[in-house]
Amino acid sequence: MRRLSRRQLVVAAAGVAAVAGASRTVFAQTAPAPAPTGPFSVPPLTYATDALEPHIDSKTMEIHHDKHHAAYVANINNVAKTHPQIAETPIQAVLGNLNVLEDDIKMLVRNNLGGHANHTMFWEIMGPNGGKPAGEVLAAIDRDLGGVEKFQTSTLPVGASSARVGYS
Ligand SMILES: [Fe+2]
Repeated sequence: MRRLSRRQLVVAAAGVAAVAGASRTVFAQTAPAPAPTGPFSVPPLTYATDALEPHIDSKTMEIHHDKHHAAYVANINNVAKTHPQIAETPIQAVLGNLNVLEDDIKMLVRNNLGGHANHTMFWEIMGPNGGKPAGEVLAAIDRDLGGVEKFQTSTLPVGASSARVGYS
């Protein structure tokens, strides 16, 4: 039997949390993203920073969007000043081929372009309007977690590791 990895579980949980918060729909823009200083930019949120409460609070969203993501973008834009090829190739292709980069930028690109990609994906997959798990995620939740309702209402005991409860 295939089990969910911890990463898959976190992604699925985030999606289910967004579903659970769907009744608190708030439409507003967050503060505008800072003007880009290079080819990469922080995308504006398409929902208010408090739209995911009570699952993810506004302050957490602001920190990750306006501070973390902005810092990754500023850093990768600095790298792009001297290595413009990283902006001329799709992000996933750059991240999937870090071994071809010069040693002096390899870690910078991994950390900062990776941080940019991860945060961008997070803003895009999360939202206040919710949705229902489908496809492989739904099948995995049904198979490994006893269904969506059980998954949404169950919690891990405090201090429990994912390994002890059967997630790998
Ligand atoms: Fe972050």
